[in-house]
Amino acid sequence: MTNLSRRDFFGKTTVGIGAGLAFSNSWARVLAPKKFSKAEADVFIELKALKKNLEILSGKKTTFWSYSGKLIKGPSHTLTSLAGGYLGPTIEVKTGDRVKIIFKNAVDEKSIVHWHGLDVSHENDGHPHFAVESGKSYEYDFEVVNRAGMYWYHPHPHGRTGFQVYQGMAGLFVVRDREEAILNLPSGEFEKRFVIQDRLFKESGELDYRPSMMGAFGDTLMINGEKKPEVIKVKRGTYRFRFLNGCNARIFNLALSSKDSFTQIGSDGGLLEKPVNLKRFYYGPAERFDCLMDFSKFSVGETVELEGLPLVEGRGEKYTVLKFEIVEGKASIFEAPTTLSHYDIIPEAEAVNAGNPKKFELIPKRGVGWTISGRAYTHNEFHEDEVIKFGDTEVWEFYNPTGMPHPMHVHGTQFQILKREVGRLDGCLNEGWKDVVLVMPGDRIQVLKRFNTFKGLFIYHCHNLEHEDMSMMRNYKIL
Ligand code: C2O
Ligand code: CU
Ligand code: CU
Repeated sequence: MTNLSRRDFFGKTTVGIGAGLAFSNSWARVLAPKKFSKAEADVFIELKALKKNLEILSGKKTTFWSYSGKLIKGPSHTLTSLAGGYLGPTIEVKTGDRVKIIFKNAVDEKSIVHWHGLDVSHENDGHPHFAVESGKSYEYDFEVVNRAGMYWYHPHPHGRTGFQVYQGMAGLFVVRDREEAILNLPSGEFEKRFVIQDRLFKESGELDYRPSMMGAFGDTLMINGEKKPEVIKVKRGTYRFRFLNGCNARIFNLALSSKDSFTQIGSDGGLLEKPVNLKRFYYGPAERFDCLMDFSKFSVGETVELEGLPLVEGRGEKYTVLKFEIVEGKASIFEAPTTLSHYDIIPEAEAVNAGNPKKFELIPKRGVGWTISGRAYTHNEFHEDEVIKFGDTEVWEFYNPTGMPHPMHVHGTQFQILKREVGRLDGCLNEGWKDVVLVMPGDRIQVLKRFNTFKGLFIYHCHNLEHEDMSMMRNYKIL
């Protein structure tokens, strides 16, 4: 493995001189560190949270809460909308871009946007204490230091994240870089993105949000903010499929009806070092899965399904998540390269607490709900074991003694999974750079994380959004 340093890995693209577009500075109250390598933003977006009345179910209107975007500066592909659906626009930028986003809150309650998976400063991270009232705005200004990958954005006001996401507030944030570009992965119509969500609707057509200790679920699968299509037509070639489990609480157990393996090429934080073949995997909320799918061996007219198997074999029925139908058309076969990308495998010895992980227990507490080690979230408060020295690498251990899965998410830099002691159910995603780790019942997982980019207050929480809202979330502070 090439030994690239962290700096190379987060390498910036060549600094270009901006077009000299002037911005009104009236909103520049953001406290972001002024150590930008660029004098001006490459991309400037206005992102508004608002209600949208859409006909997603036939013959019925649903009031969604959503995001609308307006591109003020940047190439036109920076902002694309997912036609028809309730999701916010897809934002696409390059590593090294300086991005300004003005968030305008036009929904009825406090909100704030979090850029899930992006490594940004405290002021840009959508910490719940920055939530702004309806009618107010919040300005973001950050440089994209992440590698190419599919990140996403969603609200993060304490106690209301689950509700707001369920109402429709979320969007994709795609980052490109040169390391990915030189691979020439399938692109254009051969790169498909799927945001999978489940929703429950009332007879009237309105959403029916039912939070519980288990989370909020739905009986209708939504793909990219629309009702799941009957079939998705694919040609006899190789596709790159990029998935986001955008559900509040649902965990999938995914497999292909053809019994083929998935060729995984990427994870939450971008490309893996090498492709990995998986027959089946558990897929938790907020996790991303990037894979190559070769349909060339099927004949026109055949179908292949992405199946949701019961979480525990024999308990429940399998269902169709997506159905692909092979159609006529020009397509090419893409062989996965043996090496996809280069990055550091964080050595355990680098951690200041190697062999002595910080331990977090995922447990319920009477009168509170779900907690981390019995502690509930309160704004700005953190415990002494939640203080980290800037520049340190630490090992954190998540232990789940309960019968419910907990997809644990840590803000800030991406981490790597050092080890997983599997409890009752095997088959979670462990490869590559992660920002969410699915902790199944009985699992004990150690992750390695470098706290070397921004000082400040960040959060870690369960990404079962109802657990998070119940206060299964904590601050950590990098000093
Ligand atoms: Cu996607 Cu703190 O969350
Ligand atoms: Cu996040
Ligand atoms: Cu949880």
